[in-house]
Amino acid sequence: MKFDTPAGTNPIDRMTVVGKPTPRIDGPLKVSGAAPYAYEHHDVPGKPAYGYVLGAAVAKGTIRSIDTARAQRAPGVLAVVTYRNAGKLGKGQMNTAKLLAGPDVQHYHQAVAVVVAETFEQARSAAAMIDVDYARTDGAFDLLAAKDGAKEQGGNDAPTAVGDFQGAFASSPVQLDQNYTTPDQSHAMMEPMATIAAWEGEKLTVWTSNQMVNWSLKDLAATLQMPVENVRLISPYIGGGFGGKLFLRSDALMASLGARAAKRPVKVALQRPLMANNATHRPSTIQRIRLGCGRDGKIAAIGHESWSGDLEGGGLEVAVQQTKLLYAGANRMTAMRLAVLDLPEGNAMRAPGEAPGLMALEIAMDEMAEKLGMDPVAFRVLNDTQVDPEKPDRAFSQRNLVRCLQDGATRFGWSRRKGPGQVRDGRWLVGMGVAAAFRNNLNMKSGARVRLDGQGTVTVETDMTDIGTGTYTIMAQTAAEMLGVPLAKVVVKLGDSSFPVSAGSGGQWGANSSTAGLYAACVKLREAIVEKLGFGPGEAVFEGGQVHVGNRSADIARAAKSGEIVAEDSIEFGDLDKKFQQSTFGAHFVEAAVDRYTGEARVRRMLAVCAAGRILNPTAARSQVIGAMTMGVGGALMEELAVDKRFGFFVNHDLAGYEVPVHADIPHQEVIFIDEADDKVSPMKAKGVGELGLCGVGAAVANAVYNATGVRVRDYPITLDKYL
Ligand code: MOS
Repeated sequence: MKFDTPAGTNPIDRMTVVGKPTPRIDGPLKVSGAAPYAYEHHDVPGKPAYGYVLGAAVAKGTIRSIDTARAQRAPGVLAVVTYRNAGKLGKGQMNTAKLLAGPDVQHYHQAVAVVVAETFEQARSAAAMIDVDYARTDGAFDLLAAKDGAKEQGGNDAPTAVGDFQGAFASSPVQLDQNYTTPDQSHAMMEPMATIAAWEGEKLTVWTSNQMVNWSLKDLAATLQMPVENVRLISPYIGGGFGGKLFLRSDALMASLGARAAKRPVKVALQRPLMANNATHRPSTIQRIRLGCGRDGKIAAIGHESWSGDLEGGGLEVAVQQTKLLYAGANRMTAMRLAVLDLPEGNAMRAPGEAPGLMALEIAMDEMAEKLGMDPVAFRVLNDTQVDPEKPDRAFSQRNLVRCLQDGATRFGWSRRKGPGQVRDGRWLVGMGVAAAFRNNLNMKSGARVRLDGQGTVTVETDMTDIGTGTYTIMAQTAAEMLGVPLAKVVVKLGDSSFPVSAGSGGQWGANSSTAGLYAACVKLREAIVEKLGFGPGEAVFEGGQVHVGNRSADIARAAKSGEIVAEDSIEFGDLDKKFQQSTFGAHFVEAAVDRYTGEARVRRMLAVCAAGRILNPTAARSQVIGAMTMGVGGALMEELAVDKRFGFFVNHDLAGYEVPVHADIPHQEVIFIDEADDKVSPMKAKGVGELGLCGVGAAVANAVYNATGVRVRDYPITLDKYL
């Protein structure tokens, strides 16, 4: 099905199942420990042996020699694989660095070897016996030092300019020109990268933890230089991804190589200490923001530049993305520059671009409101735009930023906010902060298959994943709505490359794209049911387990009495996203308190108001947003991969040193969804919300801390040493 005109009325609009708060159908499996995660029990042919990955001990250089003889003789060891005996390897399209080092080393903790043994302990102990001689070379590890050599990129990453930014900024009566920094961050998901690999002849099956089944299937085949038909990738449950599992990573490759060498299924879970440097991370940024305003508060000039680094051949952190679209202003510029750094591979982490971009922009907006003597909510409302400010003939498909800000302000009691440092509660200084939320809505082609059997059970099959987001549930809701059956009559099967290729889970495109793909398959199944029953033509209504056409009715199960009915289709998105800018909006409100003596900061209240199209399942969507808000508090106050600038690695490579919020750090959180349905994005009229929930949170916390203390911190995380 091609989606290229705005959606008319369709069966989803009834909203009898879709849109209803629905507990996760996979919830009981997860809380009882019965949901099989990658490292756990599967239909594996044979008892898996254990693989232990050895990471490179230098950030850059070459391997002069590797002596594996002692490791190979160690008790229980079945195989040791290094680049010397791995066979010829290719590289996946989505990988910047190779997943197995040698002879060159591209980053610290790049995999150098996998040891396969009968037990995990034997593999770990033997890995310590591998003797690697490295020739270490100097690398670039410091973004600030590499900043001046950073280069502009092309395509979507190229600089943008509208009007006369320099002139308008210079002549603005009120100006702001500030630098902000965001640190390298780690996804720090609970379940590490993990895979069980098994070979049967030339055929390879991997049970893994991956957000994008088809991308990683293709990249695993490309890396192993084998036909993609001979690989099957299964990823039914994922213990968190946040973008770290968008791509094939070393666990899957090393398990596959280890299993081939040991002639046994092999399981590899990347050890926690490898996660920070072996896996990808969100790159740090240096951002410069210039705002020029009239005394009336209207933005005349808005400029945003960002610098980030990555390995040779890597990409930018696209931190200026929201600045192109969020506020009006006739004169504008954005620019991003990429430095080559020899730190581990940078890549997408939840809301790549907007998350760190808004951490800077929304502090700048707070600073400018203060210079203007305006309320920060009113300042943002005044500078709203209903068209793409870089391309004014292009409207937003839907844009309710102003309502998010205004409804949120009322709900939060924003009018009680006082000037900086004016509110005390015992030893605590208390303040409120606001930030706008913005994240683009992306759509991806997505396919699904639906089956109807003689008992009236509907089975959904797609390679779509559930990364803890609630995919199983919204897919079941979609099929139930389309076929007029109760949720209990729907079985959802996900995360298997033998199923139709879906959008996968990334960039907050998953929910809308994958349910739209299922919608398309259900339209076909409905037609097949009507035809089988001989009920056509005429408009069919599916409800209560029955189909009605004119005055004829039957149980849908009757259509499948003589055999299962199967329908498959995909949704393909035309160019509606070129005609209309598709984005999601929101507003974050935070109340924070800072201890006047110790500088300890605590978040006291949080509110998010989100405008993200139709909300398919308010329970799951709220969970996404409160999780994102929690992550935003981490980004504001705690999270930072500390770079060793001499040797080029992230020092705090475990969950003791890389701090994220715990329950005790997080207060009551409230989430409000604006009642919307966006007919320009898909037949579901839904948009993404999981990343929107993070966008702006960090700045709202920063602005609340400023309002509490009167001290402005522009370098994240806002730790107490920065304002004492
Ligand atoms: Mo998201 S960072 O695209 O999983």
